[in-house]
Order: sequence, then C-alpha cells, then structure tokens
Amino acid sequence: MKKAFIFDLDGVLVSTDRYHYAAWKSIADEEGIYFDETINNRLRGVSRRESLKIILERAPRTYGEEEEHALAEKKNERYRASLENLTPADRLAGVSETLEALRRTGALLAVGSSSKNARYILGKIGYGDYFDAVVDGNDIVNGKPDPEVFLKAAALLHLSPCDCYVVEDAKTGIDAAVRGGFCAVGIHDAACYDRADHAIKAFSDLLGL
Ligand code: BG6
Ligand code: MG
Repeated sequence: MKKAFIFDLDGVLVSTDRYHYAAWKSIADEEGIYFDETINNRLRGVSRRESLKIILERAPRTYGEEEEHALAEKKNERYRASLENLTPADRLAGVSETLEALRRTGALLAVGSSSKNARYILGKIGYGDYFDAVVDGNDIVNGKPDPEVFLKAAALLHLSPCDCYVVEDAKTGIDAAVRGGFCAVGIHDAACYDRADHAIKAFSDLLGL
C-alpha cells in the first residue's frame, strides 16, 4: 500500500451528480438548449466553465464571455441551494468506515477536486477538518486532465506522486492522475477505463490495494 490517498470529491466521497444535472438542466431548458444525461456524463470532473462550453456546443446561437459568466453564476446559485440539505448521511456507501480504516494503517488522506464548492460540501458532510490536505477548483489554474490539482495535494502532503493513489470516478481525472505520475484507481464510471492502474467495484476495495 502507498503512503497516501488523494480522493476526488464529487462521485467518489459524495454523490452530487443529480444536483449538478438538475441545475444545468434548468439553465439549458431556459436557454432552449438540448441537454440530457449522456451529455451530463461528459461534465464529470470538468470545471464549471468547461462544463458550460460542452453544454453550449448544442446551443442554437453563440454566447459572449459575459453571458457565459452569467450563466455559470446562475447555475452555481441553483446548485449551491440544492447542496444546503447535504448531511453526513450523503457520504457514499463505505466511505466513512473505509477512510477510518485507511487512517489506522497510517495512510495520509487528501482531496483533489475540480469543484470550487468542495470545501462547502466537505463541511456539509462532516469532513470540514478531516483531511490532511484539500486542493480544489479555487486553488488551481488548469483543471483536469491537467494534473495540477493532484500535484498540489501531493506537495501539501510532502510526498511524490508515486507514493500516492488517486481515486477517481471520471476518465478525465484518471488522465490527470496518470499524467501526474500517480497510481490511478478508477471507481464507478472510471472503473472500466483501461488507463486506470487499478479498478475497484466498491469503495471498501481500497483496503485491498
Ligand atoms: C467536479 C464535477 O467535481 O466539479 C463537475 O465532477 C463540476 O461536474 C466541477 O463541473 C466543478 O464544480 P463547481 O462546484 O465548481 O461548479
Ligand atoms: Mg468526480
């Protein structure tokens, strides 16, 4: 087992997918842009502005910089409102016990998320002070598949990438991990991605790495 685990947040520790989808869907509907769950899958792991660009691929007209900014803000307001009711019960299956068990092995635990809401979400699910390092969308210039978010987390842990697992549910996150020299662990959607070094079916499978 390696010295540290760097976890993606959305889709790995907590499921926020349906909230992202509902907020983007309401914006797309208002703008008359086709948007469905398949397109939504492409937004996984991708920054808010990049997500909007993917949605606007189907727009009947072009949008200016200011308009794009306003749409991204509006989406975030709706998304934030839906996060208000998050509680520790929204941690995904096996997360609480597995993190505790990993900690008992002496492993360091960190979060590397594209989301600018990551610290808010961590607070809501009772993990405000839990992790040894948190790097999120506010701390980086280049989003996944650039490895910046994970490299910053490893630096905060004073570890080399080769000493860390990165646990991801998004292909773009696995790409980032591989590019950064980490050991990439795919779960959920990313479990069938052949670039991942390990694939796990359940979060608790991390204990068997
Ligand atoms: C990632 C999600 O964690 O965060 C993406 O998988 C999302 O779908 C991205 O677009 C940015 O999130 P936020 O909270 O900054 O809008
Ligand atoms: Mg994710």
